Amino acid sequence: MPDGCVLACSVSGPEAGTPVVFIHGFPLTGEMWRHAAAALSGTCRCIVPDLRGHGASDASDRATMPMFADDLVTILERLGEKRPAVLVGLSMGGIIAMEFFRRRRERVRALVLCNTRALPETEEGRAGRERLACDVLARGSIAAADQMIDRLLAPGAEPALREHWRSVMASNSAVGVAAASRGLADRADSRPTLPTIDVPTLVVAGQHDVITPVDLMHAMASEIPGSRFEVVRGAGHLTPVEAPETFSRLLTGWVRDLQHADSAHTAVTPA
Ligand code: MLT
Repeated sequence: MPDGCVLACSVSGPEAGTPVVFIHGFPLTGEMWRHAAAALSGTCRCIVPDLRGHGASDASDRATMPMFADDLVTILERLGEKRPAVLVGLSMGGIIAMEFFRRRRERVRALVLCNTRALPETEEGRAGRERLACDVLARGSIAAADQMIDRLLAPGAEPALREHWRSVMASNSAVGVAAASRGLADRADSRPTLPTIDVPTLVVAGQHDVITPVDLMHAMASEIPGSRFEVVRGAGHLTPVEAPETFSRLLTGWVRDLQHADSAHTAVTPA
């Protein structure tokens, strides 16, 4: 990145395939999209970064939503990807996708907003995020992992799944997680953006999500013209991880429709 931060990014699928950028949540990693990216990689160029401060990427002591969005633009540029991409974002990833849309609308083909929200942080929420940042800097990312794990997964989640994601979160850089926590506290209000979204949009909620509940997601979807809204049964906040088959089926079907629309458009466009 221009500030010297090196980001890890996995790229799979045919170079000529529809570009799809997967944006993970806080404080997770690109691994959460493993199943979904594999399901799309027959026909899509799947671009799965670890955001700065997460997974195998370098951390910086500041990480705002605009910085994350600009990092994604730089990744697309470095990959030589000029076509508008489908952005698939979960929670913080969805917030980053909306920020990306505001900044670089011409680079967005479609949006998939999973378990996310358009609301800015509340005063109470801001204080909680600052406390979390301080805890993490004092005790390591395990502090965030322990605070969040029970709210991320549905109550019936397998203990092995819970342990795995707790350890993924705990392995993240403390500096990176604290920076992202503060970045989330300062996030913009995306509500005015919703009615301006003029690309195909799929909104996905998890039936048991307590962080971004179904009602909130439904209200958000109803503000986005022509969007499709789906609730994944049995899932909590980490829908693609908790219900990978259902989520991947939903995503691949929706992307296939998009690809058909694109090829029909290409077929009737005069040379
Ligand atoms: C996420 O998954 O990105 C987080 O749960 C966002 C949050 O802490 O609100």
